[in-house]
Amino acid sequence: MLAKGSLLVLLGCKLSSAISTPISQHVLGSPEFGAGQSSAIENGNHIFNAVHSSMRQWGSSIQHNGMSFFLASMPEGVMMYHGTHTAERVKGMQWLAFEIEHAENFARGRFGRGPGGPGGPGGPGGPGDPPPSASSKSDEKRHGGSGASKLNDEDEQKGGYLHMYRTNRAITRLLYIDGMSAGKTDLGTLDTQDILLLNMTGDSLPMHGEHERGLKLCAWGKPYNIDGFIRTEAGIEIIWCEFEDGLDFISHNRRPGAKDQGVEDSLGTFEYYRAMEARYQGIAGGRVTVDYSSMVSAFFYQMNLTNPDSERSELPRLLAPTNSELGAMRKDVEAVLARTQSVSVHWQGIADMIVSRYALRLPYLATKATNSAFKSDINTLLNTFIDYDNLFIDTAIKQCTHHYLRAAIPSTKEDFLILAALEKVSHTICSTLFAAREIMFSEKLDDQEMPPAKATKLISDMIAWLNWTEWKRCGACAYDEVCVVAIWPFGSVEDHTHPSCQNSTQLQVRGHGGDGYWRRG
Ligand SMILES: *[C@@H]1O[C@H](CO)[C@@H](O)[C@H](O)[C@H]1NC(C)=O
Ligand SMILES: *[C@@H]1O[C@H](CO)[C@@H](O)[C@H](O)[C@H]1NC(C)=O
Ligand SMILES: *[C@@H]1O[C@H](CO)[C@@H](O)[C@H](O)[C@H]1NC(C)=O
Ligand SMILES: *[C@@H]1O[C@H](CO)[C@@H](O)[C@H](O)[C@H]1NC(C)=O
Repeated sequence: MLAKGSLLVLLGCKLSSAISTPISQHVLGSPEFGAGQSSAIENGNHIFNAVHSSMRQWGSSIQHNGMSFFLASMPEGVMMYHGTHTAERVKGMQWLAFEIEHAENFARGRFGRGPGGPGGPGGPGGPGDPPPSASSKSDEKRHGGSGASKLNDEDEQKGGYLHMYRTNRAITRLLYIDGMSAGKTDLGTLDTQDILLLNMTGDSLPMHGEHERGLKLCAWGKPYNIDGFIRTEAGIEIIWCEFEDGLDFISHNRRPGAKDQGVEDSLGTFEYYRAMEARYQGIAGGRVTVDYSSMVSAFFYQMNLTNPDSERSELPRLLAPTNSELGAMRKDVEAVLARTQSVSVHWQGIADMIVSRYALRLPYLATKATNSAFKSDINTLLNTFIDYDNLFIDTAIKQCTHHYLRAAIPSTKEDFLILAALEKVSHTICSTLFAAREIMFSEKLDDQEMPPAKATKLISDMIAWLNWTEWKRCGACAYDEVCVVAIWPFGSVEDHTHPSCQNSTQLQVRGHGGDGYWRRG
């Protein structure tokens, strides 16, 4: 009751002017980097989401057209996996998986698949493969490419090898390419590699030419001593540029072949999903550290990221920008690579703090809360930032906006762009909540009724703009289920738009249709 009286006083003060207050200039320092800040603010929601989803299988699968790069590092001692047809230690450039199940898929006989590790040629979704499916039988085919039917072949009967490697030094020169960047699709998942880094256009785009892509990326990164490129598909992986540098070869166990008994693995894709599900919210184990302060994102630039395919306008593309625009961004990536490691701001942690405070409360306010619950919840969220001795709403909005951002000590120019983006998101949340609060406390409302539409619409419009992948999560699934979202090369359109808990039967049924999400037409 005390609060209610005070709030009414508060509402009398400066409220309407406060709501329209533009984003405040940084309280934390002033950027020297002029160009880009307006783009960073304009694309604030996308940059926020890229930071939040980085190195997470979940968000990278849903917002699959990554537009950003980050430097990343790994400590000594990290175990990584590679599936192939031979016992010999890999030389030169190849693929390494962070998850066992990912690499096991590639541990096939010579004709079971082509050479290469996760994502390698002949890997999932290679040219001419049938649509992704979930049965282990068609897995066999899916990974088989054109030689798949040669089951009588000696090599195929033998099965391949699972190699394990271990980093034997700190690996500090990795470039993380965000989104579903190892997904060989024409939806735009490869734009940042092929168009931006490799300057390829139209017919020269290799699409499935993974070996060529890997070699070109490594050649491009060589002047900067790049050890490899971290990308995501069904599992997070690394294109490792030189296997004889930075890795100890630990083991090469032969896989069971067609004739080996007692090794039935009928839950193939289901178990693969279990492995990925464990990484939905992060790769875990401290295996990769992202240097957020080195982020270079297409969202920082005045580039036209509109998708020419108007049916997928929500997906950003790099098809419209000019060569010089792309060249300028490529130069900035190269400038970041030429730097020695900076002191990184843990921007993802800040994004997490914001998401975890609001993710459940906003939909509750927008859909379920009665008037009294709405008022009570919004007071929980906002009262903290109000000084009841000085009832100025714009001060309260500023405090609310900057609360979690105060943890950041920005130093690089990229830090200031990320800060501008996160501040835009945080300010939008805080000013929208204060605006909803004004509506709720300025009229007499029946406690048990649902709130006025103008209040809930403010919140639901903001939810649509924020578009957090958190809101697509399945919730807890039963022990015999996994939360299925479309992850290249798996999943249907329905799995992309409405991820859901599925048991092994349901996963197979969905995967078998002609509705594979990742291939069109
Ligand atoms: C939110 O993101 C999803 C996944 O990329 C997309 O399909 C949807 O259109 C986006 N919604 C809005 C309102 O931008
Ligand atoms: C990128 O490709 C275009 C032709 O498509 C060429 O004119 C330009 O010089 C290339 N840029 C670089 C940096 O190689
Ligand atoms: C941006 O690109 C889209 C798709 O290519 C195009 O339709 C649109 O006209 C472009 N917008 C501007 C402002 O150039
Ligand atoms: C999966 O769930 C469906 C529907 O509830 C059920 O019919 C089916 O038997 C279940 N499969 C397994 C392997 O439990």
